[in-house]
Amino acid sequence: MLTVSNLTRRFGKNTAVDAVSFEVERPAMIGIIGRSGAGKSTLLRMLNRLTDASEGVIAFEGRDVTALRGAEKRAWQSDCAMIFQQFNLVPRMDVVSNVLHGTLNRRSTMSTMFNLYPEADIHRAIDILDRLGIAEHAPKRAEALSGGQQQRVAIARALMQDPKIVLADEPIASLDPMNAQVVMDDLRRIHEEDGRTVIANLHTLDTARRYCDRVIGMLHGRVVFDGTPEQLTTGVARDIYGADAGFSEASTSTSIETIERPGVAAIRQAEAAL
Ligand SMILES: Nc1ncnc2c1ncn2[C@@H]1O[C@H](COP(=O)(O)OP(=O)(O)O)[C@@H](O)[C@H]1O
Ligand SMILES: [Mg+2]
Repeated sequence: MLTVSNLTRRFGKNTAVDAVSFEVERPAMIGIIGRSGAGKSTLLRMLNRLTDASEGVIAFEGRDVTALRGAEKRAWQSDCAMIFQQFNLVPRMDVVSNVLHGTLNRRSTMSTMFNLYPEADIHRAIDILDRLGIAEHAPKRAEALSGGQQQRVAIARALMQDPKIVLADEPIASLDPMNAQVVMDDLRRIHEEDGRTVIANLHTLDTARRYCDRVIGMLHGRVVFDGTPEQLTTGVARDIYGADAGFSEASTSTSIETIERPGVAAIRQAEAAL
């Protein structure tokens, strides 16, 4: 499905991503872990073509997407929607309009200028928000929502593109543990229920272990681990994060595991009641 070969990105003398190769054969949930500066964001940005590769090839369903331009490049960017740590919503715009922005790649300049959206798209946006449990916030300004809710709006905007791949760059790094769990549960559902591939850069080991079928570990731009959560032992993790970095499981934990399921259910219930 997705084949990444020898993918490399240099910034001057610095090689941010160094000959990375991996293959995704069927829809999967993949976590990418590694220290700050390991090249995780640059890798995701190259996949989405926000950053050009210095070398290497990204092939999706047999087609080289590395050199696409113009409309074809935008179509690819729709196929692999991106979610960011800071949500990247338009703060003063209402939630449903933020979600509808997910259709921008295929709309005319004219309809965009006048904020005209087909009614079918508006219904779809509300349905997606409903699925994520935040439909009642549709008319509010994005900035009025909590961080966890804003990240779910960003997920809704991504789903509006009906992407085959969802790329998430540290999607829970700015959230408290409870909201982090809600957002990770949503990403997992998007993978399991829709059959989409999710590739998420994660700053904590326990999240990657808990939610992903496969974990890729990066160090100095290279892939130093590619395996299952079971294969990701403390020893392997020490190699990924660097033995001299004062690695400890605790320092790479969001303590999502300590939250009881009813806690999350309570958040959803409270929100539904608003
Ligand atoms: N636009 C850029 N210009 C110059 N250097 C960059 C740029 N983006 C990233 N880098 C460098 O590339 C390396 C990898 O960065 P990044 O991909 O952000 O790592 P991570 O997401 O794992 O923290 C770092 O050394 C970083 O300073
Ligand atoms: Mg990063």
